[in-house]
Amino acid sequence: MAHVKLHIPGPVEVSEKTFRAFCSPMIGHRGQGFKDLYSKIQPQLQQLLYTNQLVYLSTSSAWGVMEGAIRNLVSKKVLNCMCGAFSDKWFDVSKRCGKQAEALQVDWGSPIRVEHVDAKLATGQFDALTLIHNETSTGTMSPLAEIAALKKKYPDVMFIVDSVSSMTALPIKFDELGIDVLLAGTQKAFAMPPGFAVFVCSPAALAKAATAKDRGYYFDFVEFQKNAEQNMTPSTPSISHTYALGSKLDEFSAEGLEARYARHRKTNQMTRDWTAKHGFTLFPEKGFESITLTCVNNGAKPGGRTVDVAKLQKLVKDQGFLIDGGYGKIKGSTFRISNMGDETEVTMNPLFTALDKAMAQL
Ligand SMILES: Cc1ncc(COP(=O)(O)O)c(C=O)c1O
Repeated sequence: MAHVKLHIPGPVEVSEKTFRAFCSPMIGHRGQGFKDLYSKIQPQLQQLLYTNQLVYLSTSSAWGVMEGAIRNLVSKKVLNCMCGAFSDKWFDVSKRCGKQAEALQVDWGSPIRVEHVDAKLATGQFDALTLIHNETSTGTMSPLAEIAALKKKYPDVMFIVDSVSSMTALPIKFDELGIDVLLAGTQKAFAMPPGFAVFVCSPAALAKAATAKDRGYYFDFVEFQKNAEQNMTPSTPSISHTYALGSKLDEFSAEGLEARYARHRKTNQMTRDWTAKHGFTLFPEKGFESITLTCVNNGAKPGGRTVDVAKLQKLVKDQGFLIDGGYGKIKGSTFRISNMGDETEVTMNPLFTALDKAMAQL
């Protein structure tokens, strides 16, 4: 069957080169080969996340680490900042972990605002908060730096940040932000196959985790640190993903991080320009639009154009491209186009041509 190129917001298209690295011959995870591999990529990961802390490799999707962060770091009560499907679900996951949790819910499409977080933390009830930097379901980016600045005011609160669909597409300076956990899965802007995540913890998070009696084993952050110090992982990792990550990080270095960020801004602008050309408006509040995907209004808000999203998807798919038809409660009233990963001006243009053709047939 002919391959349909992915422009959904994850998983995204994986290059032949990355697949070749993924298929490298197997090695033992306690042997020198794996240690050499991990020790080679460790400084590249640290550079990517602007941190001196060790970056961990988790053989799980992002949710594993997201749940793990709750188990390791919440002893009193967690504030779940909620502005879309994934951040809303984190509240549910916190409760499923048996934790006291409170929702800071805003309308989908709105960002999380620093003053709301400040007001909640000022109650003194919380020892952790969860924040999704780039809410993929709504294509909305919350002001991470502003919110992270609250850490100085509330040093005992663990700031747990999901950058699943933003990591590598723009700078997220872990040490400078002063947050406690930063995590991402690899099937989004890393442009790797799904099933793997990377994350980093502050020394304060590791100290707090060490006091959590019921933190389990598979996602025990203290185990990740102990093993990373030896260039290993607590359990048998996906060595294939680790090879792919190594290949990807070499590509990032060759391109240069600033050029990588500029490329994402450019391809995102191209997508926004395409939506404007066809009379669509964007779902997120102005000024908070994601730079890795575009969530387009389809009658979800007044003033915009409305089309048959399922038909649009089909017409585009028939030309070899998959776009997303909206997620959760805004399925159909929005659609999403991803520009994250390896996409360039040259690789995005055929998608816009296909979309133009599809629009002419609607
Ligand atoms: C922002 C965000 N967080 C978390 C997740 C969950 O990732 P996974 O299903 O890979 O665990 C997703 C998935 O799309 C996401 O976009």
